[in-house]
Amino acid sequence: MNPFQIAGYVSEKYFCNRINETETLVSSIKNDRNTVVYGWRRLGKSALLHHVLAKLKKDNYLGIYADLYGTKNMQQATENIADALVQSAKTKTGIGQKLGQLLGRIGASVSFDPFTAMPAIKFNFNTATQSIEQSLLMLYQYLNENYNNVVVVLDEFQQITSYKGGQDPEAVFRSLMQRFPKIRFVYAGSHRGLMLSMFGNSNRPFYKSCDMLLVDSISIEDYKPFIEKWMKYKGPRITTPQIEAIYDWANGQTLYIQMACNRLYENGKPISETVLSAVYQDLINQEAHYFQHINDLLTPKQSDVMAAIAKEQVVSSPTSHAFLSKHHLGSSGSVVRVLNSLEQKALIIKTDKGYRIHDTLLSRWYEQL
Ligand SMILES: Nc1ncnc2c1ncn2[C@@H]1O[C@H](COP(=O)(O)OP(=O)(O)OP(=O)(O)O)[C@@H](O)[C@H]1O
Ligand SMILES: [Mg+2]
Repeated sequence: MNPFQIAGYVSEKYFCNRINETETLVSSIKNDRNTVVYGWRRLGKSALLHHVLAKLKKDNYLGIYADLYGTKNMQQATENIADALVQSAKTKTGIGQKLGQLLGRIGASVSFDPFTAMPAIKFNFNTATQSIEQSLLMLYQYLNENYNNVVVVLDEFQQITSYKGGQDPEAVFRSLMQRFPKIRFVYAGSHRGLMLSMFGNSNRPFYKSCDMLLVDSISIEDYKPFIEKWMKYKGPRITTPQIEAIYDWANGQTLYIQMACNRLYENGKPISETVLSAVYQDLINQEAHYFQHINDLLTPKQSDVMAAIAKEQVVSSPTSHAFLSKHHLGSSGSVVRVLNSLEQKALIIKTDKGYRIHDTLLSRWYEQL
């Protein structure tokens, strides 16, 4: 097995650090506080959540992990939560009569794959005997009545702000949280601005209702021993400057550090600048179609601004004459509009050092345009 995992959380053994974040989150949950986990993309928020749930499982917690990424409405959110509940609550003998009946009432049926014994859940909300909001309430009620230690993790929670029609989803989720004080909730999201405004704006239902946990880059000091340990195991020799170079290339984004190390470990070749460049290029090429697609959806001006930011890496004064003329971007007014729309799409982010492209690999691709 390649020790540099890139497709999700495997186990503690292959998980680098996050000691403080893990302790903080476990402690909040055990002390009955609900928490928001937020941070830029690809840093390892979801992996941290799985790590924490794995720890809590040892202390007899039932962890429900639902990913709301791509959900378009309350119905899809409820489906994902019900599905996550079934995955966590199932035992060797099935899901039990009570849960089966509840699922029936919300219009869901469960079948078991004869080969893997994995439950597959199918929804037909038209057959539900109550509204979506009522169905969600019943799922939470079930958890409340049947488990003493239960934590519901809703990943990519900012997605609910895009739901159209029906009741205000923020108000629905907030009132559920108030109604079931025994259940612990963790809301995670990668759109920092949206998460902060959802939980920190006095006009919104979730205002000041949760602890806030920021997930930032793993420091190079913490990453270095992890990389050294696993490269020593069965990988090539790696020097400190090489680790620093990878960290810089990835701009500290966990996923890309892991991807680069995964390749180097697989190659097994002595690491040199040429080998590193080839690995970086491979990783960029692998995503090139997807990145091209993202770019095709942009206006020519938006695309130019993306390329200009990528070439500078970080831009503190995007309306300065120096930046505008160097990259032939025209008037500052039009660039401000483009920056706002790119930020709304979460393609660029505003850090304390200035604007940068959110996804480092995408940035590396734009650099080469
Ligand atoms: N602490 C860690 N140690 C080792 N690998 C990690 C760690 N954290 C994350 N990873 C790896 O990096 C990959 C990306 O992490 P993850 O998907 O958790 O990030 P994320 O912040 O949730 O990203 P996104 O914003 O895209 O949802 C994971 O698939 C996992 O393999
Ligand atoms: Mg995630």
